[in-house]
Amino acid sequence: MAHKQAAMAVDVPLPRHAGKPAPDVEALLAQMTLAEKIGQMTQIDRSALHGSDGGEIKDFFIGSVLSGADSLPKPNVPETWVAMVDRFQDHALSTRLGIPLIYGIDAVHGNGGVKGATLFPHEIGLGCTRSPELVEAVCRVTAQEVAAVGIDWTFAPCLAVPRDERWGRTYEGFGETPELAVTLGAAAIRGYQQAPGGAAILATAKHYLADGGTSGGKDRGDAAITEDELRRIHLPGYEAAIKAGVGSVMVSFSSWNGHPMHGHRHLITTVLKGELAFAGFTVTDWAAIDLMSPDYKKDIEVAINAGIDMVMVPTQYREFITYLKELVNEGQVPMARIDDAVRRILKQKVRFGLWERPFTDRTLTPTIGSAAHRAVARDAVRKSLVLLKNDGAALPLRKEARVHVCGFRADDMGVQCGGWSVGWRGRRGDITTGGTTIRQAIAEVVGAGRIDFSKDATGAERSDAVVVVVGEDPYAEGSGDRAELFLTTEDRMLVAAAKRSGKPVIVVLLTGRPLVLGEVLDEATALIAAWLPGTEGGGIADILYGIAKPTGKLSCSWPRDMTQVPINVGDASYDPLFAYGFGLTYP
Ligand code: BGC
Repeated sequence: MAHKQAAMAVDVPLPRHAGKPAPDVEALLAQMTLAEKIGQMTQIDRSALHGSDGGEIKDFFIGSVLSGADSLPKPNVPETWVAMVDRFQDHALSTRLGIPLIYGIDAVHGNGGVKGATLFPHEIGLGCTRSPELVEAVCRVTAQEVAAVGIDWTFAPCLAVPRDERWGRTYEGFGETPELAVTLGAAAIRGYQQAPGGAAILATAKHYLADGGTSGGKDRGDAAITEDELRRIHLPGYEAAIKAGVGSVMVSFSSWNGHPMHGHRHLITTVLKGELAFAGFTVTDWAAIDLMSPDYKKDIEVAINAGIDMVMVPTQYREFITYLKELVNEGQVPMARIDDAVRRILKQKVRFGLWERPFTDRTLTPTIGSAAHRAVARDAVRKSLVLLKNDGAALPLRKEARVHVCGFRADDMGVQCGGWSVGWRGRRGDITTGGTTIRQAIAEVVGAGRIDFSKDATGAERSDAVVVVVGEDPYAEGSGDRAELFLTTEDRMLVAAAKRSGKPVIVVLLTGRPLVLGEVLDEATALIAAWLPGTEGGGIADILYGIAKPTGKLSCSWPRDMTQVPINVGDASYDPLFAYGFGLTYP
């Protein structure tokens, strides 16, 4: 019945199979062959299917498929996703035991891979809201837009506590203190996993452990820290996530004092599953076990015995399956360990109703990017903005004022969304997804006739105020690691040119982390950290024009110069430009 209704919503082929009651996990496990069990522990990327219709899922009893952040079907419209995911599920249900597939994606700030989805501020911005209610609401909407294409699992929230702003993943964490990972991480998990109306999806606490604690902020690096620091700074987020019921934990590419996390039995089995009583399943990061040594079979043995339950292979699954089978037959990996892993995975599949509702609820599909969802995102943008300076009450702008908006970033959807936006690293320019740039948003608030736009501040002197948008270009993971955190020369020249107009200069920063401001701080009459706000530029216009008052508080300390980096609240000598928690407002 549900399928008939749904067919009206999205016009793609209906699956062959139907839902059925969930089995008893122990009874199911007792029937499974070793090949079927290993299949459940195997996660492949859709690209590993080489454009086939997905029949390999059936042949190898594959338990999970993911879309890596660049692994997006074409044409990238919701209908393609629904048809693809349901087709894969049909194959899984055609196996002897018909165990449903669980499909995962990095919906880390909205369902970023799917064009047209609502994209929210990245976590560093959400950290500035200090609002668990808002984060929960954001993640409920995201869950709905994920479920709307048949996907059941997001690799979010990121519980990293980024301690060095040179790290390219700084923006993926809620901020530099464990408190933010604790309160907002748990809220995100509730939002994803308890989304109403059949939209609940499995959440992932990642990346276990101390991904944000590596020396020099090196991505996939080594956290050379004491156990006390590990537990005090990086573990509390996981404790709270487990209390909030998180169903999966992704292990970090990084190591702790030289020991790779993926082989860390003490941290995975003793601490996470034992001490913290985590009852869900662990998943590796992308091809992460391969990095532990040159011997892949050994890597598998070490990782599974350390407590890894599912391996994000993600492409060479034939080798993975062959080796793991051999390891079990040779007695190197105990059958009890395999059974524990499979039991944990099956329990989450039962919990999220995959037997009863294996296919996309197509009535959800038209809600992707809806006005109601964008309104939640716009509110999140407003609350994530941090007003750092406001001389002479330059802000809010009056609606009657003639405003010159400048800098290409003011009209660049790619820059305002950052990484994980229709592609892994994101990119400058029109990423052909919906939403409103800052320039468009200002025009919507005051009317296009009241604003001028230039890339280089030409003509700014004819205005009453100049809004200058500067910041970082999109990146993700290691491609964002930087030795120095300066604005580009082009951006600095732009602010200087705006200043020469003699008009108040309102600087809006689109950035994944604090940047050294230098002379820009003096040249700016007012300054707003807008982070990576996502598709809804309207939230920035709302603050600029006082439609909403700024309430955001810094989720990270702001250094004066590079000699202060890394800088964190609680440091022995703490003298930041703007302290953790700083944020101005309007009277
Ligand atoms: C990232 C993870 C992500 C995974 C799957 C990895 O490169 O480190 O955060 O979930 O890819 O796309």
